[in-house]
Amino acid sequence: MSRFDAVADAWDKGDLRQKIAHNVAEAMFENIPLNDTMNLLDFGAGTGLLTYKILPHVHSVTAVDTSPKMLEMLQSKSTPEHQIKTACCDITQMPLSETFDGIISSMAMHHVEETAAFLKTLHSHLNPGGFIAIADLDKEDGSFHSHGNDGVFHFGFDRDGLVKMATEAGFSDIAFDTALIIEKPYASYPVFLMRARKG
Ligand SMILES: C[S@@+](CC[C@H](N)C(=O)[O-])C[C@H]1O[C@@H](n2cnc3c(N)ncnc32)[C@H](O)[C@@H]1O
Repeated sequence: MSRFDAVADAWDKGDLRQKIAHNVAEAMFENIPLNDTMNLLDFGAGTGLLTYKILPHVHSVTAVDTSPKMLEMLQSKSTPEHQIKTACCDITQMPLSETFDGIISSMAMHHVEETAAFLKTLHSHLNPGGFIAIADLDKEDGSFHSHGNDGVFHFGFDRDGLVKMATEAGFSDIAFDTALIIEKPYASYPVFLMRARKG
């Protein structure tokens, strides 16, 4: 059982996780023009904390995650009006056959080892003109995950480094906002929202 499978049942009880999803969704609403024709992919969707906030504003969201238990929790919250398609797979290894109008993601990119290849994968899953909106931690010292860094490949990201990799992947109009700052007793951790377009 993977680390995320083991914590799936209790995932939504985390107040901080709820707060991050709320603030990331608000940053997306402020900065990304969403509409009811759009088909989106949520990378590392987990239990759908972000997915269900975005879904009412678009046509569909496909939740992609490697943890079957996280996706089970996500599906347990579906209603006749709010249905989410799921794909339990690693799209960096096995791409989907579909392409999307946009890709959203919150707090998942630091779990993917090869960031440059990841951004190229996202690019290849987008329709022309499609967007990415990725939230994750700014560079930190490794103290953010108080439970340990198992499965964490990056202690946050340097924004300039991401601009370079996103440009090389073929993205344009790359911009950043700070979605929220997480305060812990020992440090503050800004969470960015990176947005860019398949130009
Ligand atoms: C920190 S959780 C974030 C979940 C959700 N986005 C949220 O904000 O609550 C990271 C999620 O990414 C998933 N994940 C990690 N590596 C992945 C990969 N290569 N492909 C898809 N999902 C992955 C994990 O299973 C987990 O559900």
